[in-house]
Order: sequence, then C-alpha cells, then structure tokens
Amino acid sequence: MKIQKESSIMNSYQPKELPVVPSYNNFELQSVGTFEKELSLLGSQWNFIDHVSSYKNVGDYKVHEFLDESIIIVKTKNGFRSFINFCSHRGSVLCTSAQGNKKSFVCPYHNWTFDLEGNLKHAPAFPTATDSPEKHKLKSIQINEIEGLLFVGLENDHMVRFDDVKDALAPLFAWQGLKESKIAHKRSYRIKANWKMAVDNFFECYHCYANHPEMCELFIHPNITATDVAHKNMKFLDVWQTWTKATQLLGHPTGGIEGIDPEVDQFNVIYRTPLNVDAKSYGKNGAALAPLMGKYKTFDNGETFGYSGALLQFSMPNDHAYMAKLNPISVNETEIELFWFVDKSAEEGIDYNIDELTCFWDTTVQQDIVAIERAAKGSKSKYYKPGNYTKLEKDSARFALWYRRKMAQISDIRII
Ligand code: FES
Ligand SMILES: [Fe+2]
Repeated sequence: MKIQKESSIMNSYQPKELPVVPSYNNFELQSVGTFEKELSLLGSQWNFIDHVSSYKNVGDYKVHEFLDESIIIVKTKNGFRSFINFCSHRGSVLCTSAQGNKKSFVCPYHNWTFDLEGNLKHAPAFPTATDSPEKHKLKSIQINEIEGLLFVGLENDHMVRFDDVKDALAPLFAWQGLKESKIAHKRSYRIKANWKMAVDNFFECYHCYANHPEMCELFIHPNITATDVAHKNMKFLDVWQTWTKATQLLGHPTGGIEGIDPEVDQFNVIYRTPLNVDAKSYGKNGAALAPLMGKYKTFDNGETFGYSGALLQFSMPNDHAYMAKLNPISVNETEIELFWFVDKSAEEGIDYNIDELTCFWDTTVQQDIVAIERAAKGSKSKYYKPGNYTKLEKDSARFALWYRRKMAQISDIRII
C-alpha cells in the first residue's frame, strides 16, 4: 500500500463527479415485499457473525439471530459448522439455549439426534431414517474465517465470492492482529428505523458537526468528511500528508481501498487514516485505551477504518478494534450490535477498562441512533419525498446505487 497523490485523496473524499442520486422512497423503506427481497440480497453477502475466540472447545456452540434466521455455529474437530436452527423432522427449533457445549444436537420435540456435522444419527421408532443421511441432514449454511472473524453466507447457491472479501480485508485485519484478539465487550441497541437509514448514516459524516461534537473536537477527519470549507480541507490534507510519511517510515501500512464501488458484488472499504496529531486512540484527549495489537509495535496515531458490505463497519486504532454490525429486524426496526476487541493477552481492569474502552463509539452510536430515528419518523409522512445526496454523502449515494442495481437482479421469490 502506498501514498496517494493529494489530488486523488481530495477527490476520494469529495468527488467532483457524482451522479444525482435520490435517497430512499416509501416503497423502498416500507414495503414488506421489498424487505423480504433485501433479506435474500443481504444473505448472499458474507456477513461477520462472531469471533473464533467465542468457541474454545469442540462442541462449543452459539445461536445467533440474524437476517430473520436462527443460526447455530458450532466448533467441530474439522472446523466450524453452521446450521439453520430447525429440526429436519417437523421443524422444531433444535437448540433452545443461546450457547453451550454439545456432543450432539437432540431435538426437544421427538428426540431426533444429530451429530455436530448435522448428520442424523438416531430417530426413535424410525430406524430407517438414518439410511438416507442427505434427506435428514440439518440445513447447513456456509461459514468462513478471515483472521479470526467468522463470516456466514445464508444463500448457499447464490453467494458472492468469498475470496474477494478475504483478499480485501485480510491484509489490514492481519496487521490489526484480529486473529490473536478477543472480544472485550459487546452490546446491542434497537433502532426504530429501516436498516437502510442506519446504513445511510454510517456511510457519511455530513451529519458529524451537527451530531458528534466530541468526535469533531478530537479527530481530524471531519475537516474533510464533514465540510467543504477550503482551509479545513487543507488542514486535514496537511495532517494526512505528514502522518502518511511518518507512518511509512515506521513500516506501518497506509492507504487502502477508499470509497464504495457500486458495481461489485460485495463492496469492501478498508483504509488507514490519521486520528489527529497527538491522538493515539479514542480515550480522553486521544489517550490510548489498551495495549498495542497485532503487528503494531508503536502508536502511529492512525486507524484502519472501513466497511464490509452493507452491514459491517469497523474502526481500529492501534490498540483495539471496534466493529458495528447491523441486523435488519423488520421494515421499521434494526438491531445494531457493537463489538470491542483487544489483544487476547490484555487483562480487564489492568490493561483496559470497559467504560473507557467503549465510551467514544458508544456515545457516537447513541447520537447516531437519535438522528436515524428522527429521519425515520419524518420520512413516514405521506408528504415525504426523497432528497438527493450531496458530495459529502458520496458513499451513501454509492450504496443506494449498489442497492438498486442488486435489488433489480433478485427474483421476487425468496431463494431457498
Ligand atoms: S421435530 Fe425434531 S424430532 Fe420431531
Ligand atoms: Fe454518526
């Protein structure tokens, strides 16, 4: 990864050419049929679901409610497996607890028993059932790992290429040491809004001066992501240039993939950027919050920022990684799950403090939720008409282009 020229970095933040793109209309925001198609679209993407460190022993499993499905993830002696949480007999939920350790899955309805690979091993009073293993197998879905992060794909025959996602994310995820990390803390919120309104918010910082005063005080990027005032833009570019040179001298990566590409099957944005001149991390006045992670041997005052597909956003300074995962619940409700990762050797209370670690993004997300819910409420009016995205909302606009192109490709019937 190498330094970009100043004009190209300016253009990547504030593109001169951007088509006029309207935001979402009522049909896109409120139709249940649209929502069903969206679940198929999102299920065909590789979505982050959990970290390998959540499964220590063979037989450890967790049940995740995601994209309107209940999904079992289990660690087997052959790696991770993922099943939809229903029994192949008459559809009962198979795992009734959220997590645990099992040698086999026993259905609570009539005691059909499946091994960890999803094969039926025993069906009371139905000895021939095990003669046709394929017929009675649990419904499996695809699961893959990128540097310790588990990604699932729900549309088995219609998945985008996993290697494209892996190739984009793995190099900077490896620098971050995500494989050798652990989840320090996790929490979730419900947003009373269509999921695309949350995506819209996450993909732009046009709203930052009005909604995130702490962020704008602490960090340099709003000087270019939240305003087109020339002297502020130049201030960012100055810091960015100095930071890029210094970071390269340290041997740390710079650059990356900037800007959503509306033409690909799954977009991945991942790049390094300065926090601010003296800011190591997201603590008070830019203080560090945890021991260095991964290959970083010193603080470089930068972060790795980005998105993978519509539902995952991440922000990773040198000492921890923050991830936000969206989960559409219904046309008018979205869950957001927040994760904070630290190096696996870091000890809570000694090396990091949960309140301090989570404060910055938790505050920011709560401010975002207020803004998103206001937009959701206002746009329910019968008089509402979509407005157009500005150049400071370029990735929201590009996401809308991606979304409309992909939705046009999906059949009306949910893919089974
Ligand atoms: S529904 Fe599972 S054993 Fe009958
Ligand atoms: Fe925000």
